[in-house]
Amino acid sequence: AWKPDSIIDDAIARVRAQVGDGHVLLGLSGGVDSSVVAALLHKAIGKQLTCVFVDHGLLRHQEGDQVMQIFAKNLGVKVIRVNAEQRFLEALAGVADPEAKRKIIGKLFVDVFDEESSKIDNVQFLAQGTIYPDVIESAGAKTGKAHVIKSHHNVGGLPEHMKLKLVEPLRELFKDEVRRIGVELGLPHEMVYRHPFPGPGLGVRILGEVTKAAADTLRLADHIFIEELRKSGWYDKTSQAFAVFLPVKSVGVTGDGRRYEPVIALRAVQTIDFMTAHWAHLPYELLDVCSRRIVNEIAGVSRVVYDVSGKPPATIEWE
Ligand code: XMP
Repeated sequence: AWKPDSIIDDAIARVRAQVGDGHVLLGLSGGVDSSVVAALLHKAIGKQLTCVFVDHGLLRHQEGDQVMQIFAKNLGVKVIRVNAEQRFLEALAGVADPEAKRKIIGKLFVDVFDEESSKIDNVQFLAQGTIYPDVIESAGAKTGKAHVIKSHHNVGGLPEHMKLKLVEPLRELFKDEVRRIGVELGLPHEMVYRHPFPGPGLGVRILGEVTKAAADTLRLADHIFIEELRKSGWYDKTSQAFAVFLPVKSVGVTGDGRRYEPVIALRAVQTIDFMTAHWAHLPYELLDVCSRRIVNEIAGVSRVVYDVSGKPPATIEWE
């Protein structure tokens, strides 16, 4: 039978054999895979691990602080947090095209990671949260089978000049195995079973130009939606759920008068493989609570709409 503790022991032994007394660098994103790698390597090699967490300012509500809380504070992992929000916002100013935004975010991410990691002396290894489906997917890409609709950016680019050897302890594991190991290693259940979050973050959930004001509004709306999904038990019945910022102003009327503010769209989908998806038939009462709370608690929102598009023809993300 498959046992998380034997998989962990085996992975730890292999990492120790590979790394020796060398130093390992890891790009920590807060996502499941890199988080599990961080926890695993910390257990295997402790102080020989340094994590660099590039906070691009396009994360969810309090996400950056949570990553620091879990890893630096609770587990005692060495994590360098780079607050790069300003640099990302400047690079994105005036850019509205989704693919252009993805490229800017992806490139700047690698640049910032690169800069930070070259300040750390004596690193010989780069750890990555590659899991088995990633291995298959990139094999497919080589034979030309991968169908690229959006350029997917993933966190943790390889700093070319550093000539680092790769450490990929999850390479043979499926997602559900990675999650079970994560829980076994002491990561919070809530983090390990979180919905997937795209590398470019809120950058592709703020339609058109990305601004700090839009990101702040979106974070609040998204947080309310997720909170209500969790409270009602719907979070675990959906595969991905989030709010989207629409840069379209609409008129609304509240207790204190007329509003002319942007619209928030809510999206929740159910899927097995994320290649096709159904929109989730959330109860009207739940949507009602979310809509009321978002407009009442956030001054910069005029109204809330729910996305009833499947994939295909719509993608899961709006950009
Ligand atoms: P779409 O929108 O293509 O999304 O239906 C399918 C899944 O992929 C995620 N996604 C991304 N993940 N970088 C990522 O790391 C990206 O640029 C990106 N775009 C979409 C999306 O959240 C969904 O889970």
